Amino acid sequence: MFNLNDIIRPNVLKMKAYSSARDEFKGDASIFLDANENNLGSLAGENYNRYPDPHQKKLKARIAGIKGVQPEQIFLGNGSDEAIDLLFRMVCTPGQDAMLHLPPTYGMYEVSANLNDVALEAVQLTPNFQIPVQELLAQVKPTTKIIFICTPNNPTGNAIESESIEQVLRNFNGLVVLDEAYIDFSDSPSWTTRLAEFPNLVVLQTFSKAWGMAGLRLGLAFASAELIAVLDKIKPPYNINEATQELALKALFQTEALKDMVEKIVQERQLLMQALPALPAVEKVFPSDANFILVQVKDANRLYHYLLEKGIVVRNRSSLPGCAGCLRVTVGTLEENQKLLQAIAAF
Ligand SMILES: Cc1ncc(COP(=O)(O)O)c(C=O)c1O
Repeated sequence: MFNLNDIIRPNVLKMKAYSSARDEFKGDASIFLDANENNLGSLAGENYNRYPDPHQKKLKARIAGIKGVQPEQIFLGNGSDEAIDLLFRMVCTPGQDAMLHLPPTYGMYEVSANLNDVALEAVQLTPNFQIPVQELLAQVKPTTKIIFICTPNNPTGNAIESESIEQVLRNFNGLVVLDEAYIDFSDSPSWTTRLAEFPNLVVLQTFSKAWGMAGLRLGLAFASAELIAVLDKIKPPYNINEATQELALKALFQTEALKDMVEKIVQERQLLMQALPALPAVEKVFPSDANFILVQVKDANRLYHYLLEKGIVVRNRSSLPGCAGCLRVTVGTLEENQKLLQAIAAF
């Protein structure tokens, strides 16, 4: 049986959150002399002389409406990379605990584990990039606290079968972190709809991809209210800055425009999926539920440098396990994609 308090580090369970000036004062006031801000104003304009809402209440209320969850089930991070780091710090004692991930996958799970001195265990995805569930569960040790599953997976682009994810959730008594950074481009439903069933489930999403806000740094974690309360306790108090909170809130009312953009990107993805296999340099195009495509080519290093010379940057993923000869290509605009296809055709 999963019990959240059993896996939270004892020092984290015991500690109290930083109490900010804005936390200590509640009520109406017109003169704020409590936070050592500059009351003359801000050289950056607007009300940037004031600290932002540490609880991001307006933003969370809007996100809750869009995602169909309670505000208490949402954590907001300075990118989802911040959530990944805080999850390690919440449950993994440095030099003692371990995490499991499934390469080829997103590189920050490994970087963040290394930074936090968490032992890194890896089980490679199958040749069609699915989870070998029995092999994964057999690797679990008493010190394994987190399993990271990326779906749709970066850099392979495919969604992970939901039966496999469910088996992991049911048979592992640590945190199962599902990274859904690319979920908006996928037909699969989000696992946020199943939070009530699985107290060990954490779903990560981000505004960096479909919403087009990578520069603002806004990522999300969804989980039980109890787990989110712990993340909120250990986060830096003002981790989401005022400009990000304001701009994101405005963007979050443009759901129709989001739909249009996602539809266009998915259409462009389809065009690339059809055109790429016809090119002589291309050996295989992997199915994609994301805004990028993994492409196996005859000479990845040479093609990569050739494209660079043409001013086109793609990601060379050929050194990752299971990705020999592979480049990862983000779906661009119609024009960009045509230039990419022409350049590969001329290679
Ligand atoms: C799978 C995955 N998760 C998370 C991120 C990072 O998201 P953020 O910009 O919110 O830190 C990326 C970025 O490439 C990603 O591919």
